[in-house]
Amino acid sequence: MKLKSLVPQSGFLLALRFLALVLWSFPGARTLDNGLAMTPTMGWLHWERFMCNTDCQGEPDSCVSEKLFMQMAELMESDGWKDVGYEYLCIDDCWMAPKRDSKGRLQADPKRFPSGIRGLADYVHSKGLKLGIYADVGNKTCAGFPGSFGHYDIDAKTFADWGVDLLKFDGCYCDSVEHLEKGYKHMSLALNRTGRSIVYSCEWPLYMWPFRKPNYTEIRQYCNHWRNFEDVYDSWQSVKSILAWTSSNQKRIVDVAGPGGWNDPDMLVIGNFGLSWDQQVTQMALWAIMAAPLLMSNDLRHISPQAKALLQNKDVIAINQDPLGKQGYRLRKEDNIEVWERPLSDLAWAVAMVNLQEIGGPRFHTISIASLGQGLACIPDCVITQLLPEKRELGFYQWTSDLKTKINPTGTVLLQLAAT
Ligand code: GLA
Repeated sequence: MKLKSLVPQSGFLLALRFLALVLWSFPGARTLDNGLAMTPTMGWLHWERFMCNTDCQGEPDSCVSEKLFMQMAELMESDGWKDVGYEYLCIDDCWMAPKRDSKGRLQADPKRFPSGIRGLADYVHSKGLKLGIYADVGNKTCAGFPGSFGHYDIDAKTFADWGVDLLKFDGCYCDSVEHLEKGYKHMSLALNRTGRSIVYSCEWPLYMWPFRKPNYTEIRQYCNHWRNFEDVYDSWQSVKSILAWTSSNQKRIVDVAGPGGWNDPDMLVIGNFGLSWDQQVTQMALWAIMAAPLLMSNDLRHISPQAKALLQNKDVIAINQDPLGKQGYRLRKEDNIEVWERPLSDLAWAVAMVNLQEIGGPRFHTISIASLGQGLACIPDCVITQLLPEKRELGFYQWTSDLKTKINPTGTVLLQLAAT
């Protein structure tokens, strides 16, 4: 532990602090004006864990059905998830009947959703939660159910009539880039016209990338969050590739994020099968640094106490939900150790150190405090708390000090630096 400096703050240092405050308070790009997602959306989304399982005869406990969502809603309320902020319970693909009804409206599969989406929404709302649904800008959803192309207005109205609170709008089976762009914009306006508050979750940039560079400033004006990169899988390879994509595109995507509009690196797979404990810590820490929507895809009926505690870690959630709303970025990569940082409100910073070396044991890494936060993270000193892998008060550090940490292979040490 380092001792607090007794030297009084000079005028120069105070001026630097003031400058930092002014710089970080600048408003971001124009955002979708629906007043939603002022901090990243938190909730649960069925896709990664339950995929397109429609076999309720053979697998009644894991098929995509209202029973599954009702059970998750109950647990979100009773097991502390709602209390820490997980609010949106979201349906992904495969909820629909194969055909629209006689009035051209989408309908839920009647066997798997006997109460209809309206009934499910009422149930979810009775638990103090919100309901998310899924549709697709093209002719079919990715799993082959009816697409919204040519039906944007009626679908937006149907979702609003049912009491839906979030729409994940996928981009499969769209026949041109023009239709893709127009479709995403059309649905955004259609949702707004319903007068219901519906968070709009897009995959527009992901489907744009193969054709041309997405215009993120424009996307932000229509969407509350947007997927940029491939689907997350329950594997370290997948989490690693999402982080690698994000850091190599950070110049393009970081500044555009802010209250009302966020980059979406896809679901949290913590609590499943594919990630080691350290890798789960890495996903939680980095999703907080990236100001990512925290949409878990796991089975809340069967989750280890350790994974649950990680997902419910209030300090880490507070970083993710920080009201300043600035996305973090990778500061450097050196010898397979990455240092990421994120500016927070009250001149605080979050710093994550990831050990990407997949051979050997824990590694020591020393950082100079002065290199953090563009030199402003700890002027003239700060209090550092380690939040992950476990909470430890590290005490006072000076701008000139070094900090030595020990990081497990594929694990992360997450720190918070608070101004004194
Ligand atoms: C795409 C999306 C996924 C999921 C599936 C459903 O792959 O990117 O997140 O919604 O479709 O079919």
